[in-house]
Amino acid sequence: MELSILYDRLRWEEKAIAEEAKKNGLNVSLVDAKSHPLTLVGEDGLTNSKFGDVVLERCMSHIRGLYYAAILEREKIVINPYKVLSLTTNKLLTTLTLDKANVPTPKTAVAFSLESALELADKMGYPLVIKPIIGSWGRMVACIRDRREAEAIFETREMIHEPLQQIYYLQEYVKRPPRDIRSIVVGDEIITSIYRYQPEDDWRTNVARGGAAVLAKLEPEQEEIIIKAAKAVGEGILGVDAMESERGLLVHEINGCVEFKGASSVSTVNIPKRIVDYAVKKVRR
Ligand SMILES: Nc1ncnc2c1ncn2[C@@H]1O[C@H](COP(=O)(O)OP(=O)(O)O)[C@@H](O)[C@H]1O
Ligand SMILES: [Mg+2]
Repeated sequence: MELSILYDRLRWEEKAIAEEAKKNGLNVSLVDAKSHPLTLVGEDGLTNSKFGDVVLERCMSHIRGLYYAAILEREKIVINPYKVLSLTTNKLLTTLTLDKANVPTPKTAVAFSLESALELADKMGYPLVIKPIIGSWGRMVACIRDRREAEAIFETREMIHEPLQQIYYLQEYVKRPPRDIRSIVVGDEIITSIYRYQPEDDWRTNVARGGAAVLAKLEPEQEEIIIKAAKAVGEGILGVDAMESERGLLVHEINGCVEFKGASSVSTVNIPKRIVDYAVKKVRR
């Protein structure tokens, strides 16, 4: 059996998965999405040439990974599938999907112009959180404490010539402990959960920003929420992120290409092995 790992930058995670797959007797190919064009219509077989039975989509660029999955899954088993990625890549769609499935998620609203965003922010009340609807590592996720900061941030975004930046996705600032929860879900199972403690100089808990990983033991009702959230976007290998609030656990993000170096450093679970086993099971099924 051959497993392909699609990447655009080789991180610790992709190397760990490749190593584990080799240990388990699989043929592994690492394919750089940046240097491998795909045929949409035609007969030159570009699509087929390099890929194995199952493809793990591990691109850092969400958009690149999303479209690659759409094309490849005509012929291959792709993890995660396009349908899952189309929801997880986009925070606006994730929020809608979670709420539709009755998964508790922070109060969120969206505006499509500077003026209406200001009006909306005043109505929601401060502090607020603004996020790009596509993004990761906490980049451009900002806390807005008052009207003045709202004006400054919205005006700056207005000047960025990138249509997605003019979608003002605003969220209540959740009163939470100085940590959030990252659960790694493989198929229908939570394989490990960690707390991510925010560093001293940041309110965001992303490990990429210096957040510290600590093993977490979740309550059964918390696990139930995480599993329900994962099911809401479909099945795959997911990083479900949630915050502890006065209203219980609130799921704020689902990652379709989950980073797990932080989790691996504290968990006893062999995460890469669980990922490889899942991919093998998908082919055999
Ligand atoms: N509504 C919120 N209230 C409080 N903290 C938040 C809120 N939303 C996000 N955060 C913090 O910011 C971090 C980054 O936000 P997130 O939505 O996960 O975006 P990203 O995709 O960039 O990781 C979260 O891990 C959390 O620590
Ligand atoms: Mg996040």
